[in-house]
Amino acid sequence: MVLLNTTIAGYEFDNCLMNAAGVCCYDHEELTMVDQSSAGTFVTKSATKTSREGNPLPRYQAVPLGSINSMGLPNLGLDYYLDYVRQLEKQTKKTYFLSMTGLSKEETLEMLKQVELSDFKGMVELNLSCPNVPGKPQLAYDLPTTENLLTEVFAFFTKPLGVKLPPYFDIAHFDAAAEVYNKFPLAFVNCVNSIGNGLIINDETVVIKPKNGFGGIGGDYIKPTALANVHAFYQRLKPSIKIIGTGGVKTGRDVFEHILCGASMVQVGTALEKEGVEIFARLSQELTEIMQEKGYQTIEDFRGKLQYLA
Ligand code: DOR
Repeated sequence: MVLLNTTIAGYEFDNCLMNAAGVCCYDHEELTMVDQSSAGTFVTKSATKTSREGNPLPRYQAVPLGSINSMGLPNLGLDYYLDYVRQLEKQTKKTYFLSMTGLSKEETLEMLKQVELSDFKGMVELNLSCPNVPGKPQLAYDLPTTENLLTEVFAFFTKPLGVKLPPYFDIAHFDAAAEVYNKFPLAFVNCVNSIGNGLIINDETVVIKPKNGFGGIGGDYIKPTALANVHAFYQRLKPSIKIIGTGGVKTGRDVFEHILCGASMVQVGTALEKEGVEIFARLSQELTEIMQEKGYQTIEDFRGKLQYLA
């Protein structure tokens, strides 16, 4: 018997797969589809305090090897997602993820105070890595500011909270970032958000309108970077901080590799956008077959056990 269940911060999920924030999670119709699929849970679209329309269209383009997006955080506002998840929580025992990102430190703290005071029972995924709001840098590339924010957050926030990270690209940055994250009682880190500010060109022209074509890259292009970030943080973070792996997942083999690198949960973005929520059943089946072949019964049998050459 193969089981795909997993645990984060003591919360159980019966399947280690879920959507990546931004995909299939804008409103309750999309979230319900993920909720009713084979996925273990869902994460909501990163909410700001009030709703936002986001950047001008076209702002998402799929290409053969992945995707580029500059959505600019279109969302229905924190109240919408918080109310919807609290309503679902009354009907099931599932734990849901609420993604959020303030447009300033004050906004982030205010939103988290609202969540803290509510009866929300799930986990917060604090997005520190949106590459697409013009004029706003990806926060988690600025480690002193990130440390300062997390210090203020954990001064009052007591519910389980993790952070969505941008990809880091240097061993020195893995070391420095892990040193900061290890100072806090984080439930998880999610590696990685899209690789920020790439360019995809068709003939002589960019393919999305915002920022003259610069946007976050997802899909096949980013799998090696995602795996490296998952493994680098798995090696460096204290064991109580679990890793969520995101980036380039479109087959059971990709899920297997994320878990091998240390992921406890694996999120699907670009491939979910392309294939729809049926992808969770397919990935579960493909992962199950790989595990059966290798004689693994649970994901803990191989999680983090990436092998190195002698
Ligand atoms: O690629 C991304 N797009 N990452 C984010 O964190 C936000 C999103 C958007 O809305 O632009």
